[in-house]
Amino acid sequence: MHTKKFLLILSILSILFYSYSCKHEPDDIVTPLPENCDLNGVTYPGAVVPILENNCIGCHNSQINNGGINLTDYNTLSNLASSGQLAGVINQAAGYTAMPPNYKLDICDILKIEKWISDTTFNPPGGGEHPCDPDTVYFENDIYPLIVSSCATTDCHDAVSAQDDIILVDYASIIEHGDIEPGNPDESKLYKKITEDDQEDIMPPPPDDPLSSEQVQKIRRGYYRAL
Ligand code: HEC
Repeated sequence: MHTKKFLLILSILSILFYSYSCKHEPDDIVTPLPENCDLNGVTYPGAVVPILENNCIGCHNSQINNGGINLTDYNTLSNLASSGQLAGVINQAAGYTAMPPNYKLDICDILKIEKWISDTTFNPPGGGEHPCDPDTVYFENDIYPLIVSSCATTDCHDAVSAQDDIILVDYASIIEHGDIEPGNPDESKLYKKITEDDQEDIMPPPPDDPLSSEQVQKIRRGYYRAL
């Protein structure tokens, strides 16, 4: 994969991942806060309202309420915030209508809205996190442990052994060396290797067992997670 394309995909993924409370990525991948983006003292009137006025209210007010949504109404907004829909649409995440429809909010504005959402504890009480959806594959919970235990072992693809120069020890190395293209498992080296018919080529190689079809399916679904 071209480095530029890879970096672009990686940065999109990082931003998406950063914006969810369910852990999708190892802790060492953190989106740096953009310069001049101050998340201290983010309030509804001081930060959230101006962002909505500049980017949303034109299409979502009491007269023009696309999708039946009037964002000048605090109750509507708080319902969208607590359901995760507000974060979903502004991050243009999988399964959400991208909002605004024709561009993406500035990353600092997205972070401000998210800060307000979490400060206002729209999150369920207790955990302070959105519950992880049982039907969703999360990198950190589902994919990472599987790949580390099956591939990043001694003499295989840990950082020291690096068989065939393939290292699969963390999010960045898995994406790069597994040649992961989101949404396209069939074209990805990692997916091809775990589903290879030829016993000479399949990974993990004999005498290790191949991944179970359930594990393969989980990884396959992970490719579609961030689109
Ligand atoms: C150019 C007009 C326009 C702008 C600007 C706009 N929206 Fe929308 N929005 C729409 C339309 C049209 C729909 C209905 C889309 C549909 O149902 O397919 C919609 C639907 C939605 C929905 C419901 C999504 C769903 O999946 O049903 C939410 C939430 C939303 N908008 C939030 C926002 C937020 C937040 C902003 C600002 C960051 C924003 N919108 C900016 C036009 C706009």
